[in-house]
Amino acid sequence: MPFTIAIDGPAASGKGTLSRAIAEHFGFAHLDTGLLYRAVGRRVLEGVSPIDAALALRAEDLAEDGLRTPAVAQAASKVAVIAEVRAALVDFQRAFARRSGGAVLDGRDIGTVICPEAEVKLFVTASAEVRAERRWRELIAAGHDVALDDVLRDVKTRDARDMGRKDAPLKPAEDAVTLDTSALSIEAALAEARSIVEARLR
Ligand code: C5P
Repeated sequence: MPFTIAIDGPAASGKGTLSRAIAEHFGFAHLDTGLLYRAVGRRVLEGVSPIDAALALRAEDLAEDGLRTPAVAQAASKVAVIAEVRAALVDFQRAFARRSGGAVLDGRDIGTVICPEAEVKLFVTASAEVRAERRWRELIAAGHDVALDDVLRDVKTRDARDMGRKDAPLKPAEDAVTLDTSALSIEAALAEARSIVEARLR
């Protein structure tokens, strides 16, 4: 039986950590859908047109090194505005969502557009300042030389682009449960998410 958990939210909200932990706990497959847009953004930085890059995307491209850089993140959010790019990536995400054995997908539009029938929908968020500091620590730990102010500016630019676009803007689905991780530790958010999933599985 398919069982889909849709986890949406802005950059560095903690949704990736939460999604991986939930997938591992319940033995479900996990797809970080941001990687699709990042892989397309990366090709665009190399000179390929966004639509051609989206149509040519293969599952192996998601495992490439170098998709987690700030430049690729900005390129991803620019290609994500293009309706034809989004359309080219829908089938892959829907098939993943409805595979048997359960799936967790995290992104921006999973509960609203990709899988409105998802059994569980979570919207994970936190203040821009908290998210920027988290992302800055991750980037420093990964060896990137970046300033916190620049990361905060990037987070706000990406939020504005993701929430302001016409096609599949970032917003909670009407039936999503919101978890604000600026006030909640990741352990507490995980405990809450787990109990929501368990209640739905019963
Ligand atoms: O989640 P991540 O930060 O890796 O996503 C990179 C960019 O890809 C986002 O800023 C957003 O513009 C885009 N994205 C999207 N829809 C998704 C996942 C990511 O538009 N489902």
